[in-house]
Amino acid sequence: MPPIAALRGMRDVLPAESTAWRWLLDTHRRVAEAHGYRSIDTPILEPTELFERGVGSGTDVVEKEMFTFVDRGGRSVTLRPEGTASVVRAVLTPRLDQELRPLRLHYQGPFFRNEKPQTGVQRQFTQVGIECIGERRPDLDAEVIETGWRFFEALGIGRVQLQVNSLGSVADRARYRDALVAYYEPLRDQLCDDCKRRLSTNPLRLLDCKRDRRFVADAPLIWDHLSGESRDYFTAVLARLEAAGIESVSNPRLVRGLDYYADTAFEFWHESLQGSQNALGGGGRYDGLAELLDLPPEPGIGYALGAERILIAARAEGVAPSPEAVCDAVAISVGEAAADAIAQVARELRRAGLRVIVDTTERRLDRKLRHTDRLGARAGVIIGDDELAAHSAVVRDLSRRSQQSVPRALLADAVLSLVGTAS
Ligand code: HAM
Repeated sequence: MPPIAALRGMRDVLPAESTAWRWLLDTHRRVAEAHGYRSIDTPILEPTELFERGVGSGTDVVEKEMFTFVDRGGRSVTLRPEGTASVVRAVLTPRLDQELRPLRLHYQGPFFRNEKPQTGVQRQFTQVGIECIGERRPDLDAEVIETGWRFFEALGIGRVQLQVNSLGSVADRARYRDALVAYYEPLRDQLCDDCKRRLSTNPLRLLDCKRDRRFVADAPLIWDHLSGESRDYFTAVLARLEAAGIESVSNPRLVRGLDYYADTAFEFWHESLQGSQNALGGGGRYDGLAELLDLPPEPGIGYALGAERILIAARAEGVAPSPEAVCDAVAISVGEAAADAIAQVARELRRAGLRVIVDTTERRLDRKLRHTDRLGARAGVIIGDDELAAHSAVVRDLSRRSQQSVPRALLADAVLSLVGTAS
């Protein structure tokens, strides 16, 4: 029988990648918390209706990409394709405390979309995100965008381009939708099958189609359909971004794949990602989302960023950290008699905060030391009969290949100081 492989579009993250993953996730947590965002976790499995109503049944995500199945109780359930609808549900049932506004939340975890796997597109992927719920102010739009921007800065990813747009109010978008339909309807026969369908379900998505790109240049612009209020709001957001020293590109053709957006929409692009997959992440304002879920109306804005895509960009810019050494020290006994003593030494060193592996191989000492080198350890701690008798240990600097005998009582300090020095 062939071995059982992972499902298509779903990958294992092996230990060699874990340093880069931890770096990315910890950095996002730190930057989000520095801006006052607190951690939230929502379930991975949700009622399908949450996304049908929240994300919108005419979106690609809901129409074609969700992992949906009927559970044993006969309910339709879905592996979450995104996090915003869940976060809004979680914090608005029960009603939001007046004192807490706005609520600042951050999250990270797995999400699922049944897309065609390719570079930067997986069926299980990881997002880091933030949501700011309960107030509508241009300062908060700018704060959310700035948090994402500072996160990329903290990672050292420099070539990020911020694209911003205003999708206007519900009324603005209805007017714009009519204008788009009027423009595209005479072209219907030349459109791809997806766009023919989108023309009645979700005309804004036509601007995003890679196959029908040739029609986009002459399509009407959302900015010509914005009310004065929406225009002023967008101008205020842009001014706040400029004041923060954040460069943005205003892009009237930027539309987002989810239905709940109004007013500010944005994406972070990176050149290392090709074509339709060029967004490291994106977000926007979703003031109508709570109502779609029959929750008390509350405004909100947030973003989500794709961790796998960020790692591609980080590697392209050479800023992703290399895999960490497996341990700081390897504890080696020579001869049966020292086995208990070396296990005890390992315990003492771990208590002092060191990462220690006890060597259990049956090899000659020189081969043991070579193996130790391969683990990336800085120190070898060796006990044989002589050391046992003298209540000492040999501490070997594995990069400089020097060694010294150290009394057991001073061992932890000696190894700590060796591990702390440059190799
Ligand atoms: P989204 O644009 O659908 O927004 O996804 C955000 C990011 O998740 C994408 O830019 C991409 O980096 C990553 N992503 C999405 N699908 C995949 C995939 N199949 N494979 C790899 N990465 C993927 C949202 O999800 C909204 N909830 C963002 C938001 C938060 N808006 C307001 N608050």
